[in-house]
Parts: sequence; C-alpha cells; structure tokens
Amino acid sequence: MKDFKTAIAEIISEKVAELSLDEIKEMLEVPQDSKMGDFAFPCFKLAKVMRKAPPQIAVDIAEAVSESGLFDKVEPVNAYVNIFLPKNEIAEETLRAIMEEGDAFGTTDKGAGKTVIVEYSSPNIAKPFHIGHIRSTVIGNSIYKIYKALGYDMIRINHLGDYGTQFGKMISAYRRWGNKEDVEKEPIKTLLGYYTKFHEEAESDPSLEEEARQIFAKLEKGEPEEVELWQWFRDESLKEFNRVYKMLGIEFDSYNGESFYSDKMPRFEKELEEKGLLVESRGAQVVELEEYGLGTALIKKSDGSSLYITRDIAAAVYRKETYDFYKNIYVVASQQMLHFQQLFKILELMGHEDVAAGCTHVPFGLVSLEDGTMSTRQGRVVFLEDVLTSAVEKTREIIAEKNPDAENIDEIAAQVGIGAVIFNELSNNRIKDYTFKWETVLNFDGETGPYVQYTHARCASLLRRAGEDVISRAKDLGGIDYSHIASDNAHELIKLIYAYPSYVELAGEKYEPSVVTRHIIDIAQAFNKFYHDEHIITDNEDEKIAKIALVIATKTVIRNGLALLGIEAPERM
Ligand code: ARG
Repeated sequence: MKDFKTAIAEIISEKVAELSLDEIKEMLEVPQDSKMGDFAFPCFKLAKVMRKAPPQIAVDIAEAVSESGLFDKVEPVNAYVNIFLPKNEIAEETLRAIMEEGDAFGTTDKGAGKTVIVEYSSPNIAKPFHIGHIRSTVIGNSIYKIYKALGYDMIRINHLGDYGTQFGKMISAYRRWGNKEDVEKEPIKTLLGYYTKFHEEAESDPSLEEEARQIFAKLEKGEPEEVELWQWFRDESLKEFNRVYKMLGIEFDSYNGESFYSDKMPRFEKELEEKGLLVESRGAQVVELEEYGLGTALIKKSDGSSLYITRDIAAAVYRKETYDFYKNIYVVASQQMLHFQQLFKILELMGHEDVAAGCTHVPFGLVSLEDGTMSTRQGRVVFLEDVLTSAVEKTREIIAEKNPDAENIDEIAAQVGIGAVIFNELSNNRIKDYTFKWETVLNFDGETGPYVQYTHARCASLLRRAGEDVISRAKDLGGIDYSHIASDNAHELIKLIYAYPSYVELAGEKYEPSVVTRHIIDIAQAFNKFYHDEHIITDNEDEKIAKIALVIATKTVIRNGLALLGIEAPERM
C-alpha cells in the first residue's frame, strides 16, 4: 500500500534540510481529533534552526505539501501543519490490498531467510501447570505468530524444566510411598503430593536429603532404573501439558528442555575455566559478575551437580550452532530478569558474543487472582486447565441465554471461552501485573475477546444478508463508488484498517502482542460506530456494494489480527 507518511515526510524534507527523513517521520503526529487532519506536523522545533517563527514555518511547509497535489486539504494552524489524506485514494488502496491479500493482509517477507527462535511456556515437569503459566505460553505463542507474519523462519521451543536435584527427591518419594495407578490417573497432582510429603518427612529425617542426592547422581550418570522413572514422570507430565496446549491451540517444534543439555555441560565448564571465569566459593564454582552490577552466578554446586544457568549457557550455544538464529527470544517472567542478564553477560565473557547478541529476554509481570488464591507453596494452586474448562462452561451459559437456538454451541463456546482468556491475557502491556477477573474476561461489551469476536460475527452476518452476488461485486472493486464510504465514520474505520500492517510491525519490534490487541479493539469499535450510525444493507445498490466492501475488509482484518493472538474468529455467535 502507498505509504502516505513517507510521502509527506519526503516533501517536508525538501523544505527542511536540517532534519533527516526519519526525524521528520518521527515528528509527524496523528491528531486525537480527526477534524485536525489525519497527520499533523509541529513546527516548534524548527524555529531555532530555520530562524523563523513557527507559524510562518507552518505556512511555508503547508504550501509545499499542498502544491504536491497529493492531499485532500492542507492547513497551517498556528505552529502546526494539518494534513488531510485523500479519502478516496486511501479507501481504494486499503480495500484493494485487503481483497488481493486476504489472510495475508498484514504480513510481509521482511524477515525472509532469517531464523527466529521463540522459547515459551517451559513449565517444570511434575509441577502444577497453573494459571501463572498462561502468560509465557500465550504471549510466546503470539510473538511466534507475529514474527512468522513478518516473514521470519520460526522455531518454537519449550525449554521444559525436566532436570535438577528435585528429581532425586521425586524418585525417592515415589519408591517410598508411590503407586503406579495413582500417577497414571492424575500424574501431576499425585507426584506433587509425593514431593510435598518428602519435604515434610525430610524435616525430621535429614538422611532423606542425602538419599535424594545419591539418586540424582545416579540419574546424572544415566543409571537405567533412575532414568526410566524420570522418563516416565516426564511423559506423564507432558500428557497433561499437552491437553492444555491443545485447548489453547499451541504447538512446539522442540521440547528440548534442561535435561537435553545434561551431557553437553562439560564443554562449557571447560570453556569457562579456560577463560579464567570460574572462581571457587565455599566449595562451589561461580562466575563473579559484581563489576557489571550483576552479582554472582552459581555454575556448579559443591557436590558437582550442574545448575539452571549452566544448562542455559549450553542451550544458547546449542541453538546458535543448530539453527544459526538471528534472534533467540526468551519469553520468561520478569522475576528472572537477573538470571538472563547474567546469562547474556557470561556468554559474552566466554567469547560467544555472536550468541549473546541475538538473545533477548522478553519479560512479563505477574498474574494474580481476585481472592489471592495463587500460592504454589501453600498448595493453593489454580490449574490452568480448570480455568480454561470453566471459561468454556461459563461462555456456554452466556451464549445459551443470549441465543437459545445457536447451533454448534459447544464449538462456539470453546472458541469464545478460550479466546476470551487469551485476549484478556494479551490486552495490556505484558510487563504490567494484572488480576484475573471473570467479569472482565467474559464481558461481551467491554474491550474483550468476545466483543471483538462478536464484531467479526456481525460482519459475517451482514455478508450472509447481502448475498453472494453483492459480495462478489464488492470484492471485485471495479465499479465501487468510494463516495459512499467517505463519511467520518467510514473514513476513521478505513484509516485504522490501512494502518494495521504497521501495527503488526510495531508489535514485533516491541515484542508486544497487546499492540495488535489494542488495534483490533479500535477497529471493532470504529466498525460498530459505523454500523450503528449508517444503513449498510440499503436499497441503493451502489451504496450497498461499497459498504459491503468495507465490511469484508473489516472482517478480514479482525480475523487476521485475532489469528496473530492465537484466537479463532467464529462466523456466528
Ligand atoms: N522452567 C522455568 C520456570 O518454570 C522457566 C524456564 C525459562 N527458560 C530458560 N531458558 N531458562 O521457571
């Protein structure tokens, strides 16, 4: 599509040699009130370099922009130049692009030939997959989809927490009190029970800890009995995780987690030693990062067992060597900020600057529940699977009440209920902490998933009413009279649709799916205003065709936006 912003900036830059094209683009504003134009250029900053009063500069620039003949109207107002885009042209550009590109509207091939890894979800084996895990899972999935839309070759990794001394404890506990059928019936809850019991007993009997250490040592050495049990715990846990991934529509290309790196560690311990980075501290091996303000990183425990960060060093280098990534994105809670700063710094100090350079930690804030029920320690855990199941049930009730004859109610309830939870998750800046509230999540009128999906279904229903003939004439665009979609409402909507691809790019740059979420909320709101104020299925054929073209465009862009969030777009609700 034609890039009006760049076109404006190019004209201005001929007048203002003191600023670069990019600087001018940065300065161009989109006025809150569209009566002030579609773009506004403030001239205050130029007064000094151009030695003229800002209003005079505005007059001069307005003249140049106006002379280009590219815009509907150009007005100097005080220190601003207000620019009105050519309504017909922007409508035509937008509708043409969307009709041609369809599902691909908003995608580019900018990233072609570059591999981007997104690591997300990464829960710990034999531990609850609780509501807190939704964040990494859903944010990571959306970042994956956004980068894929930008044309990158994508690899999705689930860096499972499937290794560490806790598995020695788990095996010990299972041998003491465990039972196969119970684990198979409900793996995570059962294993967690053993684990908790182990800790209780170990308080009065410290020999348990020693036993667990020995078992873990055997596991590290690859003793078959221990490995078999561990493998079984892992498989059973994954079965549970996969149920949730399936509900959320989430997949991975690799489940190489911490255990995958267990035999790859010696190389890195040796590299660390050779670079003189390892220091002994109370029997353990550490890297001192105090001079970078990053504390001390524990590399190897006094009993010789490797640690979380050491496995991450191995993983980062392995990924570079295996995938030659352009970016390696870690979607992990902000509590682990220091961990990743240490990791990237150590990689650099080891001489793996090329690895470190492509690594990015994408942090996010905490989720809590209204009644404060989130505390893994005290066993007050809210399982993600339960939240998703109740979202679907609650949605089913709402739909049954609103629309008693709805067909496929189960399918719709799943799409809307799960979609609502995901949408809610991706509505705010990821770094913000938030509280999970059912009234917000499932509100059909708020800035929510159901509201946006409902808008999509409304578009679908208008298209059914318009009929195939009108749709195909609208898609064809040949005879469209754009004056029928030149009202303020229609123009606002068209501008938002036109801007959608730039928001996808921005979301990628910022690793921020909420940029897409907010934008499709804006589109849904603008569409509903248009829908309420104007008659779409009118008797005037030409008008109906033009308006239906805009409905098709709206439906397509909402659908594409929802897809980037990992949410379905039902045709009926
Ligand atoms: N399993 C970890 C946890 O649940 C998250 C793993 C994050 N990824 C990583 N490469 N360290 O806290």
